[in-house]
Amino acid sequence: MLPTLTRRVRSNLAPLVIIGRRAVGRDRQERPNPDGSPTERPSDRLLDPIEEPVPPEHEPDTRAVIVLGGGSDIGIAIAAQLVARGAETVVLAGRNREQMREQALEAGIGVRIETVGFDARFSESHVSTIEEAFTLAGEVQAVIVAFGVLGDTPSYEANPALAGGAATTNFAGAVSTSLAATRALARQEREGTLVVLSSVAALRPRPSNYVYGATKAGLDFFARGLADSVRKRGVRVLVIRPGFVHTKMTRDMTGGWRNRLRARFATTPDRVARDVVRAMEDGDTICWSPGRLRWLTTALRVAPGFVVRRL
Ligand SMILES: NC(=O)c1ccc[n+]([C@@H]2O[C@H](COP(=O)([O-])OP(=O)(O)OC[C@H]3O[C@@H](n4cnc5c(N)ncnc54)[C@H](OP(=O)(O)O)[C@@H]3O)[C@@H](O)[C@H]2O)c1
Repeated sequence: MLPTLTRRVRSNLAPLVIIGRRAVGRDRQERPNPDGSPTERPSDRLLDPIEEPVPPEHEPDTRAVIVLGGGSDIGIAIAAQLVARGAETVVLAGRNREQMREQALEAGIGVRIETVGFDARFSESHVSTIEEAFTLAGEVQAVIVAFGVLGDTPSYEANPALAGGAATTNFAGAVSTSLAATRALARQEREGTLVVLSSVAALRPRPSNYVYGATKAGLDFFARGLADSVRKRGVRVLVIRPGFVHTKMTRDMTGGWRNRLRARFATTPDRVARDVVRAMEDGDTICWSPGRLRWLTTALRVAPGFVVRRL
C-alpha cells in the first residue's frame, strides 16, 4: 500500500517540477542585460523537456517461475506476465505434461519451458515433486499454487466421496505442496514468493458452493498463517482472492440468475495475473481481483443470513 501511495505521489509531483523550471526560464527573459547587449532568449535547455533517466520501477527478475497445476488458465497467465517482466524459465507441474506445454506456448510463453508430473491428491510425493521442479528451475522467483477443482454442490451432496476428493486436492494438496515449496524457497539466497490461489468463495459459506468454499477457506487460513511463519526466512506468501474468472473451471457455469450476477463481476485470467504481479511488486500479502471485490465481500460478510442463503 505504502509503495503504491509513494509512487502515485511521486508521479503527481513530476509535472510540477517541470512547470517550476519553465517559469524560471520566462522570468530570465524579461530582465534586460546590464551591458545593453541583446537580451538573451530563454535558454532552449530550460524549455526543452527534461530528459532525466527514469530508473525502472522494478529491476527485471530473470529467475524461474514454477506453476503447480501447470494447466491452470490463471496460473499460465501469471507465468506469462512474469516472463514479460524477465523470467527466463517456466516449470509446469501437473497431470498432462504435453497439454500444459501446448497451453503455455499458446499463451505466448517463449522462454524455456520444463514440465514435471504432479498429482495434488498424493501428498507423500510432493516433497520430491517440488525438489524436481526446483532442480529444473534453478533460482526461483515465484511458485504459483494454481491447481484446484470446483465441482458442484448437488454432485457433492449425492456423492460424499467426491466432496472428500475436492477437499484433498484443494486443501490437503495445497498444504503439502506449499510447505515443501516454502522450504525450498527459504534455501535460496534471494527472496521468493509463494502465490496461493484462494477465492472470494472462502469468505462466507453459501449453500450454492459451501464445499468448494470450505476447501478454499481452509487454504486461505493456512496460507495467511504460513505467510507470518516464513517471512523471517526470506519467503513471501501472497494470497489471491479472485471472484468469478472466465476459465476452463467456470466455462460450464451458464444460465440462471446467480451465474448472470457472477458474470457481471467476472474477470479474465490476464486481469488476475496483472493484479497478482502488481501485488508481488508492492509486497502485498493479500490481493483481491478485481480490487472492488474487497468492499463487496465486506458487505457479504455482514449481510443477514436470509440474503446469503439466496446467493
Ligand atoms: N476460475 C475462477 O473463477 C476462480 C475463482 C477463484 C479462484 N480460482 C482458483 O484459481 C485456481 C486456478 O483456477 P483456474 O480457473 O485457472 O482453473 P483451470 O484452468 O480449470 O485449472 C485448474 C488446474 O488444476 C489442475 N488440477 C486439478 N486437479 C488436480 C490434481 N489432482 N493434480 C494436479 N492438478 C490438478 C487441472 O489439471 P488437469 O487438467 O489435470 O485437471 C488444471 O490445470 C484454482 O485453485 C481455483 O480454485 C478460480
